[in-house]
Amino acid sequence: MIDYTRSCIANLEAYKVAPPDYDIILNANENPYDFPKALKEEFCAAIMDTAMNRYPDASASELRHLLGQYTGINEDQIICGCGSDEIIAMINQSFVNPGDTVIAHSPSFSMYQIWSSIAGASFMAIPDKKDHYPDVEGIINCARLHNAKIIYLCNPNNPTGYLFPRHDIVQILEETNALVIVDEAYMEFKGESQVDLVNNYSNVLVLKTLSKAFGLASIRCGYCLGPQNLIDMMYKVKSPYNLNTLTQKAAIIALRHRRKLLGRIKTLNVERRKVYKALLELPIEHVYPTAANFIYFETAKGDAIDRAMKAKGILIKHFANPLPGDLSAVRLTIGTPDENHAVLSVLKEVFA
Ligand SMILES: Cc1ncc(COP(=O)(O)O)c(C=O)c1O
Repeated sequence: MIDYTRSCIANLEAYKVAPPDYDIILNANENPYDFPKALKEEFCAAIMDTAMNRYPDASASELRHLLGQYTGINEDQIICGCGSDEIIAMINQSFVNPGDTVIAHSPSFSMYQIWSSIAGASFMAIPDKKDHYPDVEGIINCARLHNAKIIYLCNPNNPTGYLFPRHDIVQILEETNALVIVDEAYMEFKGESQVDLVNNYSNVLVLKTLSKAFGLASIRCGYCLGPQNLIDMMYKVKSPYNLNTLTQKAAIIALRHRRKLLGRIKTLNVERRKVYKALLELPIEHVYPTAANFIYFETAKGDAIDRAMKAKGILIKHFANPLPGDLSAVRLTIGTPDENHAVLSVLKEVFA
């Protein structure tokens, strides 16, 4: 039988996600708060006025205009995608040749490796230093040695919650020839966006999404900001109608009401502080500070925690790969006060 598969695809595992059948879902860094009812009604009314027989606005012009207002970046320097997942794919299609080197600090978001492998690139993960400080010198040295095409900096980082200081990002921009992708999927939870770099450096792109702080993971809307020439290149690989009309309508409503939606971050950040403090009081080996809507910790009781949570109908993220010293890692998304209370009760039982 002929094998038609591209060699770089053969060893990849399909990213299959079963619909989560749990009462409390805290495994995917989603916002626990749904789109408010009044905004859903506005969305329904907008749909009633939509000609659904027509293709979407291919350039998402109204949405980009609002994103430009929100970020302070010219709308011509913005491209939208079906989640930032699609944007990462577009970055690879636009800039990565087979055999190029792509670098990320590790651990970080898995899609960087997946999409660069699909592009036939050589992906290099630079392990964090002690306490999950990214190895900035290691990233720069590796990029220079291999003439890296792309460096991903996840800021704040999924899963560790680490926030890069601006000077580290600038150092990487200035001391390598790579195109540096700063993924700010969770930045609203900290509020220190580095998006202005796109007007000062020719080798940076910033990724953002409505999936997390805006609480709109279901609509699949991500966007990328960058120097005009790089964004123009990405338009060459964009499929014409990638962002469907329903997504554009919902995203436009979300941006018009952004003060209301982003106002909910305050509650989540109060909860984050509460959960973090409670975790520090448990005999967990390492609990890491976080700038995102999740907390990462390493423990010898990872399996027991995962089992106990599931038994109570709670889904968290337990990283199966064991760490040195019998430890494994857990990432807890911050939920509503009731959800966090339930999670902390289970943890207290496991450690009792
Ligand atoms: C760091 C990071 N970037 C990008 C994404 C993708 O977000 P989306 O495709 O929903 O915009 C995620 C999702 O979890 C993420 O953690």
